[in-house]
Amino acid sequence: MPQIPVEIADDGTLEGRWPDIKKVQNPAGETVTKAEMELGGITYSSEWFQYCGAQTYEGLEPDADVDNVFRSVENPPKEYAWQRERLSGGEPLKAEHFSDYETWGNAVGKSGLGKPAMAKWRTPEGGQEIPVQVLRSPRIERSARSDEWLEASTQRGFMAWFDKCTHFCCVPSFKGTTQSTKFGAADEVYCACHQSIYDPFSIKKPQFVALPRPEDG
Ligand code: FES
Repeated sequence: MPQIPVEIADDGTLEGRWPDIKKVQNPAGETVTKAEMELGGITYSSEWFQYCGAQTYEGLEPDADVDNVFRSVENPPKEYAWQRERLSGGEPLKAEHFSDYETWGNAVGKSGLGKPAMAKWRTPEGGQEIPVQVLRSPRIERSARSDEWLEASTQRGFMAWFDKCTHFCCVPSFKGTTQSTKFGAADEVYCACHQSIYDPFSIKKPQFVALPRPEDG
């Protein structure tokens, strides 16, 4: 699943960076708006999120009139008791909510691997929700010291990704369900729909491409 580079505002609010907006000419010679930038040695583009129907989401249009704050979802998984108790739906996530990230744990797998939250991002009022998983982990913090992309896309151990399973578009979670323990995924990101497993600590650089263009058939 594609990462969303994290930024932390001065007041601790967590935000997902959106690529720079620019005007470019398409092959037909028309001027179009694009969201794309160089970051951490690779090209970060809004095209990363163009799968599972998200290519039609209003909030993912290059120049959508939305902010980039990560906000708590209305109903986090019950295994995220901390989020259900501390945050109401729509409330901005802040760094202080994750201060116990080095020791946090729940009934799923080992403690101390990181503290997760379920968020939404760039979701307009009444618009299609854009699901995001936010994870603050000491492992990510360590990895970012020796990786150009992670250094640029994570902050103080915070990482985020567009949380749509690349299999059939369900919403996976890190330690979000005890069901994951049956499939050896208690310490991974697990998708309950058909048991896909993602390792959040092993970032894959190759990028998958968006839907084929009409001329590609
Ligand atoms: S949708 Fe996630 S495994 Fe099928």
